[in-house]
Amino acid sequence: MCGIVGYIGTKLATPILLDGMSKLEYRGYDSAGIAVYNEGHITVEKCVGRLDALREKVKGHMPEGTMGIGHTRWATHGRPSDRNSHPHTDDSGDFVVVHNGIIENYMKLKEELIAKGHKFVSETDTEVVAHLMADLYNGDFEATVKEVLKIIEGSYSLVFMSAKDPDKLICTKKDNPLVIGLGEGENFIASDIPAIIDHTRRTYIMSDGEIATVTKDSVWVQDIKGTPISKKVFEVNWNAEAAQKGGFEHFMLKEIYEQPKAMRDTMTGRIHGEEPIKFDELNWTPEEFAGISKIFIVACGTAYHAGLVGKYYLEKFARIPVEVDIASEFRYRDPLVDENSLLIVVSQSGETSDTLAALREAKRLGARTLAVTNVVGSSMAREADQVVYTYAGPEIAVASTKAYTTQLLVMFMLGVYVGTLRGTLDPKLAKELTLAAQDIPEQIHQTLENVDQIKVFATQYGSCEDAFFLGRSLDYAVALEGALKLKEISYIHAEAYAAGELKHGTLALIVEGVPVIVLATQSDVYAKTISNLKEVKARDAVVIAIAQEGDEEIGKEADHVIYIPKTNKFLAPLLAVLPLQLLSYYAALTRGCDVDKPRNLAKSVTVE
Ligand code: G6P
Repeated sequence: MCGIVGYIGTKLATPILLDGMSKLEYRGYDSAGIAVYNEGHITVEKCVGRLDALREKVKGHMPEGTMGIGHTRWATHGRPSDRNSHPHTDDSGDFVVVHNGIIENYMKLKEELIAKGHKFVSETDTEVVAHLMADLYNGDFEATVKEVLKIIEGSYSLVFMSAKDPDKLICTKKDNPLVIGLGEGENFIASDIPAIIDHTRRTYIMSDGEIATVTKDSVWVQDIKGTPISKKVFEVNWNAEAAQKGGFEHFMLKEIYEQPKAMRDTMTGRIHGEEPIKFDELNWTPEEFAGISKIFIVACGTAYHAGLVGKYYLEKFARIPVEVDIASEFRYRDPLVDENSLLIVVSQSGETSDTLAALREAKRLGARTLAVTNVVGSSMAREADQVVYTYAGPEIAVASTKAYTTQLLVMFMLGVYVGTLRGTLDPKLAKELTLAAQDIPEQIHQTLENVDQIKVFATQYGSCEDAFFLGRSLDYAVALEGALKLKEISYIHAEAYAAGELKHGTLALIVEGVPVIVLATQSDVYAKTISNLKEVKARDAVVIAIAQEGDEEIGKEADHVIYIPKTNKFLAPLLAVLPLQLLSYYAALTRGCDVDKPRNLAKSVTVE
């Protein structure tokens, strides 16, 4: 997501902020800005584009001052633009804030503040925080921050600066990372360690709910009630490269472990308790939907696999026929799309050329279009009639992991949303599904803890030439993604089959010792999947099964079982894919492959 840097000390803040922000560039961003305090006044400089554009902007009149905050933005609310860039200020410019995360209740707060006469200049959720500071200011900077924190909902790391109390920066966090770097006569704040590693290795890692008041000589941490918190110094012993990866060996592994947070971010504002799932950005009505007779989901690669899962959800919950297409096929097959069709493109980058061309073709044919994408302001986000964002944050490894699971989540929520809208989904089931979805982030966390077993399998079977993935129904869609993951990063030949199709050819390839990964998480087809498992066992394959906790039967049939936490079968794909991601990762590692940059592959394919 976005990057934050803060500095307070005796040196000029601007070069330190810009340098820190450059250390966060690898994460991807679309705009950048700084705010520096000097002699009673805060100067804000920000612009869309790369850091060089900001450097150019401040050239010759660099803001002077020894306290400041900086931000690299990865757009979530409001497209990349100068105005939407951080830092954000109130009307007077006395209160300045940078923010990572999402303020869930910003619309309501914004309306209230506008009614009170506040003038907003951006489309962001963050700007409400600066106006709230001004609105609630009672002469005490810290107390006002606490008041603001009582009002805002959502996820954040925030740094506040005020011209009215210029000797301190205040920062806090909830569900987003924040660290404080401890210097001599100077202190630093950052969203990520790489931003400050050149200055200090002594840090406080902030926890949710902690509020730090940072001056040049001290750091005082308390909770919202004012109870002091004594922090332990964490000495960073990573090198700069390891720090960029958050201490993980590869970006892919870091991104795999970021999935609980990515899930929470993608649910924010859409799922809450038992309430019906909502998409403020769509606000569809049953009447609007009545005209839609068919849905097309079009995508490439991993996003296509998310589309296949999406088909199950939309057909099952919303009872509308869905066709899923590979974008490069769709665009050339004279598709039967018309004004009664809804075309959904799914794309992490929002730039994949075949998917974009498919979107344009569908628009030309008169279809309604919706983009499900991770990149705000991307071509697909701009060109589709409507857009639903996945909030996975920047994904750097070529092999997609957190982008995929957030796509699954969006497709799931869309299915429940449209099913509810059309009255085709039993309200009791809708509630059950909505509640179960909220357990998924924690269940992902639990699943990812169970990594030792997977490392052993990766060593045992990492030298194999072929591997097969079998499943039925939703498990088949996940099997396809598992096989893609394995082949793209470990270069093991891997194929996925609908388990029922096995006997029509693939069974001929099953010989002694071939690893077969059988997904068996779907209760309605479970018995049939077990029969297929037995068929490969009878040919002496080594079977690794993925099953839901509590399934003891499978242990009697498979050679090994990887259990995922028990969940509703519709949500099982969000968990079942995790062992497959880890298995691919560790298999690639054993084979000495370049995990983050597999040979011949690119992150964003903008050519046909
Ligand atoms: C490339 C990437 C894949 C991705 C696919 C589609 O092949 O390596 O990880 O799934 O493009 O990309 P998109 O950005 O449209 O999701």
